[in-house]
Amino acid sequence: MSQDAYRLIGPDGTESEHAVLTGTTGPDVIDIANLYREQGVFTYDPGFVATGSCKSDITFIDGEDGVLLYRGYPVEQLAKHSNFIEVSYLLLHGELPTTQELEEFDRTIRLHTMLNEGMLQFFNGFRYDAHPMAILSAVVGSMSAYYHDTLDTSNPEERDIFAHRILAKLPTIAAAAYKLSIGQPFMYPRNDLNYTENLLQMLFSVPAEPYVMDEIAAEALDLLFILHADHEQNCSTSTVRMAGSSGANPYSAIAAGISALWGPAHGGANEAVLEMLEEIGTVENISKYVDKAKDRDDPFRLMGFGHRVYKNFDPRATIIREMAHKVLAQLDNPDTPMFDLALELEQVALKDEYFIEKNLYPNVDFYSGIIYKALGIPTDMFTVMFALGRSVGWAAHWREMIADPKGKISRPRQLYTGPPQRDYVLVDERG
Ligand code: CMC
Repeated sequence: MSQDAYRLIGPDGTESEHAVLTGTTGPDVIDIANLYREQGVFTYDPGFVATGSCKSDITFIDGEDGVLLYRGYPVEQLAKHSNFIEVSYLLLHGELPTTQELEEFDRTIRLHTMLNEGMLQFFNGFRYDAHPMAILSAVVGSMSAYYHDTLDTSNPEERDIFAHRILAKLPTIAAAAYKLSIGQPFMYPRNDLNYTENLLQMLFSVPAEPYVMDEIAAEALDLLFILHADHEQNCSTSTVRMAGSSGANPYSAIAAGISALWGPAHGGANEAVLEMLEEIGTVENISKYVDKAKDRDDPFRLMGFGHRVYKNFDPRATIIREMAHKVLAQLDNPDTPMFDLALELEQVALKDEYFIEKNLYPNVDFYSGIIYKALGIPTDMFTVMFALGRSVGWAAHWREMIADPKGKISRPRQLYTGPPQRDYVLVDERG
C-alpha cells in the first residue's frame, strides 16, 4: 500500500485503498471513486460540506485565514490594481493579459454588447412586475435559440465566443429587465463606454436627456464585480457545472446557475439584507431581531451574516466595507436612517457572543446591498448585479469542465429512506 493512500476497513473487514490527491494548496483530497466498487457503500455528505466535486485551476479559498485567490492572485491586489475586464481575462485565460491582449479582449467584449433584435421582443411578454432574476434566467436560457454558432461544446473557438457573449450581453439584458419594470424605453449599449459605465448608462439614462456619468458609481460597481467574479465551487457555479456536464448547451447551464444564485442563502442574500433592514425599521429594534436570530425555534436569520467557507472573515467584505463608507460619504442625500441602522446592526452582531462563537461575520452581501441602495439601484436588481459579476466565473468553470477529456456527467448517489419495494393495489381494493 502506498504511503499516500487511505485504507478503509469495513465492519466485515473488507479493505479498500484510496489515493490521496494533493493540490497546489489547501487540504488533501481522498479519492473515493472506487469505494462503492470495493466496499459496496456510498459516502454521505449533504450540502457537500467535506466533498470536492472536481479539480479546478481557477480559484482558491482558505476559509480559516480569509484568503481568496483568482488564478493565484489575492483578491485584495486585484481589487486595488486591476479592473473587472482584466480580472475576467485572468479568470478565463489563466494569466494576466499583456497590454495588447487586454485591449483586444476589451474591444471584443464591447463588440458583443448588443442583443439580437428579436430577443428584445421577449421582454414585452413579461408582466411589468416580473422579478428581474426571472427575466434574466429566462432570457439567458433563450440565447441558445439565437446564437446557434456557439452551441457546439466540443469546439474551443465556439466556447470562447460563448464566454464573450455571456459577459458582454448580461448587462444589456439586466438593463432591459430594469427598464421594463419602470416603464422606460430600453437604452442600447454604448461601446465607447467601459463595462460599468455602459451598464450605468443603460440603467439610468433616458433618450430625452443627456446622461451625466457617476464616476464613483462606476468605480464601486467595478469593484463589486471583481469581488463577485468567482468563488470556486459555490452553489450557482456547481449548478452550472452540473447542468453543463450533461452536454447541455452553455446558455442553458448559465440560466440554471442564475436560478440557483437567486436563493436567499446565496446571491439573493443582498436583496434579503435590505428587506431585513426594512423589517427591523429602527435602531431600537435591533436587539429584538438579534434575539430572534439567536432563537433556535425561530427561523429568522440575520441576512448578510455567516458563510459556509469563511469562518473568520470574508475578505471580500473587508474590501467592500471600505467602499460602502466611501460611497455613503459622497452622497448628497443618503437614506441616513437605513445606513445608520445597517452600521449599528453590524457593530451589535460583531460584539454578540452567539455570533462570535459561531463565527458569523458580515459577508460580502451585507455591504453590497448597502452600496447598491446608495447608488439608486432598486432592491430587486441586487441579485442581478451579483449575476453580472459572477457570469465570468460561471463561464470560466463551464469551459474548464467541458474541456476536461476525463469529464463525466455529474450524477450523485443517495441514501434512500422511502418505502421498500411493495406491490401495486387496485384503487377499489385500497382501504
Ligand atoms: N443568523 C443567525 N444564525 C446563523 C446564521 C445567521 N445569518 N447563519 C448561520 N447561523 C447559525 C445556524 O443557525 C447554525 O446554528 P446551530 O449550530 O445552532 O444549528 C450555525 O450558525 C451554522 O449554520 P449553518 O446553516 O449550518 O451554516 P452553513 O454553512 O450551512 O450556512 C449560510 C451558511 C451562508 C447559508 C448561512 O450562514 C446563512 O443562511 N446566512 C444568511 C444568508 C447569507 O447571508 N448568505 C450569503 C452568503 S455570502 C454570498 C454568497 O457567497 O452567496
